Amino acid sequence: MIEQSREVTPSNDQSAALELVRVTMLFFPGGAVVEAINDVSLRIARGSFKAIMGPSGSGKSTLLHVLAGLTRPDQGQVFVEGRDVTSMTDHQATVFRRRNIGLVFQAFNLIPTLTARENILLPALAEGNAHEMGQRLESLLDHLGLQHRGRHRPDALSGGEQQRVAIARAMILGPTVLLADEPTGSVDSAAGQAICRLLQSLCRDHGRTILVVTHEPTVALWAERVIVLADGRIIGDFPVDQSGDAHRLAALYHDLVGSVLSGRIVK
Ligand SMILES: Nc1ncnc2c1ncn2[C@@H]1O[C@H](COP(=O)(O)OP(=O)(O)O)[C@@H](O)[C@H]1O
Ligand SMILES: [Mg+2]
Repeated sequence: MIEQSREVTPSNDQSAALELVRVTMLFFPGGAVVEAINDVSLRIARGSFKAIMGPSGSGKSTLLHVLAGLTRPDQGQVFVEGRDVTSMTDHQATVFRRRNIGLVFQAFNLIPTLTARENILLPALAEGNAHEMGQRLESLLDHLGLQHRGRHRPDALSGGEQQRVAIARAMILGPTVLLADEPTGSVDSAAGQAICRLLQSLCRDHGRTILVVTHEPTVALWAERVIVLADGRIIGDFPVDQSGDAHRLAALYHDLVGSVLSGRIVK
């Protein structure tokens, strides 16, 4: 369940992989104030697979950046695996993120001059343990169906393959949490479904905690639960119907967003 507590409580929830406690993040574009995240509290249980949906500009990417420690919130606390990311120095946050959080973006962000294998090993190079990663690299390439693609550069790979390389890179140091921002946004629907299947297997078979931002109902269908954001707030959440009906999921989502935007829910 999503808990929207009004109290600031210290994190002692050992079952939570991710926790936001009354987080607010403001931007000041051109002198205006944008509340990208507005007093959001949220707990994501270890080993769960959740999707975040919301209209464009509702704060989804900002929420992921704050969870990853890429952006420091203006108010509130962020806990990842029980550690307070907001109290870390930038250097501590960088090292913590590299070891504990895998990040996947819509733009694959691969280095064009490096092969798939070299791209995947980049975080291990930064960590200074690339030489120990041989076995994990092979098993990731195998699991992601990339064995025959390891020596190719990104421009020789399909979009789906590039995203799988990006996922392998995110997983090479064995993080327990994977955060993905519109990971299927740049690939066709078949490749998108393959990516979702992979994320589900990382959760089910390998116990990872997966949080995926998407606006595609066919992607959210793979999660256990959908959290809905609008105007920087969590406006609701619902379990995913195991029947796999994307139209029903889209209807539930649009009902929630529509009711808030038309003012039927009083904040
Ligand atoms: N670096 C930034 N500077 C100014 N405004 C920003 C910045 N990042 C995000 N915003 C604003 O914060 C709001 C939420 O943005 P974002 O998290 O990217 O939404 P989403 O990912 O749901 O589309 C938007 O109004 C956006 O314009
Ligand atoms: Mg976004």
